[in-house]
This record gives sequence, structure tokens and C-alpha cells, in this order.
Amino acid sequence: MATDDRHDVTRSLAAAGRLPDDHVIVICGATGDLARRKLLPGLFHLAKAGLLPARYRIVGTAPAADAPGEAEFREHARQAVARFGRSAPEGDQWEAFEQALSFGSADPGDTAPLLAAVREAERAVGGSPRRLFHLAVPPVAFGSVVTMLGASGLSEGARVIVEKPFGTDLASARTLNDTLHAVFDESRVFRIDHFLGKESVDNILALRFANGMFEPIWNRDHISHVQIDVPESIDIQGRARFFEGTGTFRDMIVTHLFQLLGFVAMEPPAALDARSLREEKNKVFRSLRLLDPAHAVRGQYEGYRGEQEVAPASDTETFAALRVEIDNWRWAGVPFYLRSGKALAEGRHMVTLTFRQPPLRMFPAAAHDAAAAGCDSLAIDFDDPGRITARFLAKEPGPEMRLGQTEMVFDYAGSFVQDHALEAYEHLILEAMLGDQSLFTSAEGIDRLWEVAEPLLKHPPPVEPYPRGSWGPKSIHRLVRPHQWYLPDGR
Ligand code: BG6
Repeated sequence: MATDDRHDVTRSLAAAGRLPDDHVIVICGATGDLARRKLLPGLFHLAKAGLLPARYRIVGTAPAADAPGEAEFREHARQAVARFGRSAPEGDQWEAFEQALSFGSADPGDTAPLLAAVREAERAVGGSPRRLFHLAVPPVAFGSVVTMLGASGLSEGARVIVEKPFGTDLASARTLNDTLHAVFDESRVFRIDHFLGKESVDNILALRFANGMFEPIWNRDHISHVQIDVPESIDIQGRARFFEGTGTFRDMIVTHLFQLLGFVAMEPPAALDARSLREEKNKVFRSLRLLDPAHAVRGQYEGYRGEQEVAPASDTETFAALRVEIDNWRWAGVPFYLRSGKALAEGRHMVTLTFRQPPLRMFPAAAHDAAAAGCDSLAIDFDDPGRITARFLAKEPGPEMRLGQTEMVFDYAGSFVQDHALEAYEHLILEAMLGDQSLFTSAEGIDRLWEVAEPLLKHPPPVEPYPRGSWGPKSIHRLVRPHQWYLPDGR
């Protein structure tokens, strides 16, 4: 981001009263994968963009057994930014950022080093800075870390960002909520789902509610079915320990894809604030029909059971596809097809809404077949930086009335003077510092999603093997009949 642009962003946020107060940010799990890939590079980018508070400190923490020294932690951060950041860790801005980093280990029996590091950071910031914890730890550790923060007094007045998946089923999510609420009241809990921080996912709200064009047709009268399709080409990339206990359904579907569904399917909110957005999303979740295992496919890529730390007879799915029904006035009878999986042919992020065919068949039959194959659709591609494609039929030039498939495309890249400024995590950390919960998930919403998922979790269909580089097990085609999957493109 150029310096002038940076000042523009800072100025416009400041004018809107949206620059965060001074902060001490504590990353729990600071030596882990998420901190390395997303949090440290993201915080440096926020610093460069002028979006961190005027005065801040970042304290890393981890159990003493994994704890680096302070210099080692700074070097760890430098390498993380060099490898995963958008700008190199160099120059004055890097030096200032590096100076703001410190480390203090913490174990349930001994939080003294962390306490000392946080106190020192607060003294360096001066005044009464806010405290924000980011729990970048494996889901099994959420409860014990929260309890530790409570017992040590570190949680006092602090906010907390909790990673997904939140629980592994309804009972564990409720227990985790109780543990959290014993230490942090709901207004200080920020359950993150980073898909909600993606620019083109937020743009679904703009598309639907800022234009007169789309909302009138955004319902069962005009839309025949919806696909939310997030195939990934990467495999589990050595994350067996996390993945074996989680699987694609919990890692991607009940979290990211359902949150997206909430945005796509919600009624117009009363306002664009946290309360209204969560209310509308929760109404969608309440209207979801309990998942039917007969309408779900679980898959596992060939070779998964041979990966390090994966059980030789593992039943964990690396792929899930399902048909979801929303029993409300807007969507009754419109199937939503969801798919995600690892080691698939492409990595994509797509939401596609397909329109119903017009009532009268005036054109040659072939044209209607094309429409039936999904050429009459709106496709939201939320890969960074994202695009929206309206596909439709047009008259081919010439003396005959022949129809051809065509499209209109909006591309985020290059469409605005100020290109895409923030990556999902950056956006969400900023929102948490500002105390705005609009893009975070709520206890009620998550509770309901686990409830909806129960039948499938209790009676999962057997995992079906699929070749790496494919689009999943063959039975996915049966799942969407009489419709088809849109991906791969141009099939
Ligand atoms: C994470 C999942 O939440 O999202 C990963 O744990 C997945 O398994 C990732 O790969 C996908 O995120 P994105 O933004 O790369 O699509």
C-alpha cells in the first residue's frame, strides 16, 4: 500500500471514530502454525497500513516447554513475515514492529512469565491500554487456556478471539461456552471465522442490500438452487494431529460454509450492526432443516491413511458434500449444495445462484438445455481478490435466432483505486480491537449449527475413497441430481 493511501485509510477510519484504542495484544500459541502463517504477518501488515493503535505491544505466549527466548521470538516473527507476509520485514516500520514484540511463557501451573511480560508491555504502552487475547491454539486447548487466563487475573477487562471449530459437537460447544462465559462475558468474546473477514464475502451484503437489482430476485420464486463450493487443492499439509480429530465437516462445512450460507440466505437486516446481522443469520440457522445423512457424502483422499500420524484405519473425512434445506418463506424448496475437500483438482471459493427457467419456452430447445445446465446464473468467486460473474444467454449475431452463452464480469482486481487493502485475518483482528462483533459468530448461532449437524455426526455415512486431484467421490453427482456441480469451469 502506498504511503498516501495508507494515510487516507487511517484518516478516514479516524474520522469515522474507527481507530483502535491503545492495545496489548497477546497471541496464545505464538509459535504455532496459525501465528506464523496469518497472525504475525497480518499484524505487521496492519502496522504498515497505519491501522494498529498509536501505541501497542504484542506479547507472544506458549507453554514453557515450547517457549523461545525474546530474541528468538522476534526472529521467528521476522521469518514468518518474510515467508508469509505481503511486504518484507525491513526498514523503519519493521524495526518499530519488532521492538513491540515480546514473549512470556504460560502453563496452567505457572503464568508468572506471561504476567510479567504483559505488565511490562502495558507499562511500555502507558495509560490503560486494552488487552486482547488471540487463542491461536488447537481446539482441545481452548478450555484450559481460558481457565488459565481467568485464574491468573489476566482476563480482567480483556477481550478474547477464539478460533474455530468451536467445539466438536453440541455438547462440547455448550461446555466450552460455559467455560468461556465463566471468564469473559459474551460482549468480550470474538469467535472468529475468517471467511467472514474476506472482502468478497462481505461484499455479498453490499451486492444484496446496496442495489435495487438483485434483492427482488433473491428468493425461491427466481432461484432454483444454490451451490457453495470450496474445493482445496492442498492436502492436510502435515496437520494430521489437528485434522484427525476434526475432519472436513467440522473444519470447513459446519463453520466456514454455513457462515457463508448465513450471509447468502439472510433477510435484510434492520441495520448493518452486530446485533442485526447476527439476528438475521441466526434466523437462517434456526430455519435450517436437521441434516439428513442420506443427503451427505463423506470422502477420503487415497493415501490419506498413509500420512504421518494418521491412523491406518482412519475414518476421518477429508471431503464432505451435502444438500441443505432452509425451511422458511424465502427458501423453501431451494436446495443449497455445499462441498469442500482436500487434495481436489482445484482450490476455489464459489457461491453460485442458479435462476429458474423462464415460464415460456419461446426459443429453440437447445437454448433451454444450455440454461438448464446453469448458464443462467450469478457466480460469486471469493478467491482473493474476487469477482462476480453473471452468466446469461444472448442472441448470437446473424440472421437466425440462435442463443449463445455469455457473461458479464465484475473483477475486484483493478476495479477500485484502492486495491484490496486487508486480508481476512487482518480485517477481523482490527474489528476485534474496535470491539465490533458484526463479523464474528455468536454462541446462539454456533449452538444451533451443531444441533443441525447432530444427525450427521451421530450417523455418518461411510467414507468413500477418491483419487487425489479429482473432484471427490463419484456419488457427489447423485447428491445434486437433477442439477450439476458448476466446477470445474466450462464443463
Ligand atoms: C481453515 C482450515 O480454517 O481454512 C483449513 O482449518 C483450510 O483446513 C483453510 O485450508 C482455508 O482457508 P482459505 O482462506 O485459504 O480458503
